[in-house]
Amino acid sequence: MTKTIKVKDKEFAVSIPAEQLQKEVCRVAQEINRDYAGRQPVFLAVLNGSFIFAADLLREITLPCEISFVKLASYQGVNTTGEIREVIGLNTDITGRPVIVVEDIVDTGLTMAHMLDTLKSQNPASVDICALLLKPGKLQVSLDVRYCCMQIPNDFIVGYGLDYDGFGRNTKDIYTLIPENGEK
Ligand code: IMP
Repeated sequence: MTKTIKVKDKEFAVSIPAEQLQKEVCRVAQEINRDYAGRQPVFLAVLNGSFIFAADLLREITLPCEISFVKLASYQGVNTTGEIREVIGLNTDITGRPVIVVEDIVDTGLTMAHMLDTLKSQNPASVDICALLLKPGKLQVSLDVRYCCMQIPNDFIVGYGLDYDGFGRNTKDIYTLIPENGEK
């Protein structure tokens, strides 16, 4: 029988078990260890969603490296209705350094595209994206996600760091929203 959980008012069914996540995280860590051999990357983990992924990934990284944590603060621009997301908490000097951004999930890709613009203004040697999950069906911008553990359908998910309205981050497995009648 499929394992289900209730997060706030919604029901979710297990879709990516912990064992599968661990396997894919190890695979990606090995790719990074291989590709970055001889270099000392700075990992930038994007809070809050990537905290569990980053913790598991970094324990499989055998390179000499630094890890720093950034957050994206959302606010409304003065003369625009669009949402602006500012990168805060970047207190590591990334000038001339190889940077790997650790993100929980790339959905439309707008967050990562903005993040890349911000980081590039500080002249790092290179920037790669390492995402736990990618929803290719939702991408709105062209984005090179060099490292990706898994591609998933467009459904809403929680667990392993990802939340629904602040809840549901603290599970080992990932769960997919069970659509209610007429809801997708
Ligand atoms: P993007 O800018 O549309 O790529 O959005 C990326 C951010 O949206 C991620 O860092 C998550 O915080 C959030 N997000 C996107 N899809 C999901 C989901 O299915 N569950 C939980 N959070 C999500």
